[in-house]
Amino acid sequence: MWDLWLERAKPVMPVIVIDDLETAVPMAQALVAGGVRLLEVTLRTAHGLEAIKEIKNAVPEAIVGVGTVTSSKDLENALKEGAEFAVSPGFTRDILACAREWGGPFLPGVLTPTEVMQVRDAGFMWQKFFPAAAAGGVDMLKSLGGPFADVRFCPTGGIGPETYHDYLALKNVFAVGGSWLTPKEAMSARNWQAIKTIAIAT
Ligand code: 3PG
Repeated sequence: MWDLWLERAKPVMPVIVIDDLETAVPMAQALVAGGVRLLEVTLRTAHGLEAIKEIKNAVPEAIVGVGTVTSSKDLENALKEGAEFAVSPGFTRDILACAREWGGPFLPGVLTPTEVMQVRDAGFMWQKFFPAAAAGGVDMLKSLGGPFADVRFCPTGGIGPETYHDYLALKNVFAVGGSWLTPKEAMSARNWQAIKTIAIAT
């Protein structure tokens, strides 16, 4: 699925925190206008689920997923609202089972070779590498590429406009994620032009 989506979307994924539900749709429109279509709406605030539903209804060009999934219940709830993909900072046996039953694009979070092997054994070849910068960044991903050449990563955590290119240049990285695409200041000032400009420049 990621391959298919990436044919028509930039390989960047804003990690979105919705403090005010009214910002969800105009923010998504600004990102999409700038060519950023893979949107990870996190469950870090109470508005996450509703935001997913609203963006899905109002911005058909967006590919909307759910982030910060930390339980199978989170995943089930987000799928009910129409989330097209799901991302977790880690994984539990329960989440992996639920994601396998769903069969859709789920990115479990990993950090170590052992975790890469655990989720690969469970059938997940596309993984989130989190927290990327704190865990060794580009060098760590290069090292993981040796034994795990078949695994593709989406690093997130501590990545910004100055560093995302370095990650995307790695052949085991299919996309990068982060909150730099939807800065808190621009969101609270409802500065959609600023968000569109960042999306265009990315
Ligand atoms: C995530 O959950 O992917 C990260 O918290 C995003 O990290 P960032 O805010 O450093 O981009």
